[in-house]
Amino acid sequence: MPKTIGIISIKGGVGKTTIASSLASSLTSNFQKKVLLIDANYSAPNLGIHMDILSPESTIQEVLSNKSRMKSAIHNRFGVDVIPGSYMFQAQFNPLKLRDKINSIKNDYDFIILDSSPSLNEELLSTILASDNLFVVSTPDYPTLYCSLRAAKLAKQRGRPIAGIILNKVRDPSYELSLKEIESALEIPVVAKIPDDKSAARSLFLRMPIPIYKKHSKLSKEINRLGAALANKKEKRSILGLIMPNFKREQVNRQIMKENFYTSSFS
Ligand SMILES: Nc1ncnc2c1ncn2[C@@H]1O[C@H](COP(=O)(O)OP(=O)(O)OP(=O)(O)O)[C@@H](O)[C@H]1O
Ligand SMILES: [Mg+2]
Repeated sequence: MPKTIGIISIKGGVGKTTIASSLASSLTSNFQKKVLLIDANYSAPNLGIHMDILSPESTIQEVLSNKSRMKSAIHNRFGVDVIPGSYMFQAQFNPLKLRDKINSIKNDYDFIILDSSPSLNEELLSTILASDNLFVVSTPDYPTLYCSLRAAKLAKQRGRPIAGIILNKVRDPSYELSLKEIESALEIPVVAKIPDDKSAARSLFLRMPIPIYKKHSKLSKEINRLGAALANKKEKRSILGLIMPNFKREQVNRQIMKENFYTSSFS
């Protein structure tokens, strides 16, 4: 059954677009899934830059204002179907129509991935309401943790509890919040722990998703493990993971998430 996955946060710059584009290309190139990736950050849409679409023929805002059809707004890049946004769109549109628009072509895909806006308004709400499963992206610091708490509360109020935390830009664990602290504050499992990785800046400069630009980078490997869980495949373990199977807490969380993923969804 197709699944719509929303990648959210109410803090800017934590890595939503990087993760949405990387996850989409990992699911396509490593797990042969059919993926539609949509820019739902309508005010500041930059998914096109990550996916090498600089002058889109048609955009998500045109779709939401009934000026274009979903299928006409699809651009295929790196094997992923992408509906980008426009920085210049001026006319009125209704972000809350996103769910209905997705439903019109959902059956053509295995996954629909939504890159969301960090603004606490209808933009973020459109992703929350259109998603079957939500992941919140957080960095391991107090300001972002508080924003993630807020996002988790909002999603819960809307009947869409968050499936997992994607911890991004992990730099210096001795001076950062631990996985345990984050999980107990948010009461949500961490399902991926992505290091700060130079390949993020390089791939953005080259306008290629990281798993395509550098498939053996640390970031790509962790995204591939998350992709494997979502695609219901066995994840490739690190050598340490092979010696000590339960070594990494996020590996265990992913296993539990994988078991729940195919049984739970919102109606
Ligand atoms: N794991 C990482 N390591 C290093 N840099 C990263 C990582 N993840 C993202 N970045 C960088 O952080 C910056 C912000 O990333 P991104 O645009 O994905 O964030 P965002 O949450 O989508 O932001 P916004 O809320 O503004 O849409 C980019 O320059 C990106 O290359
Ligand atoms: Mg973004």
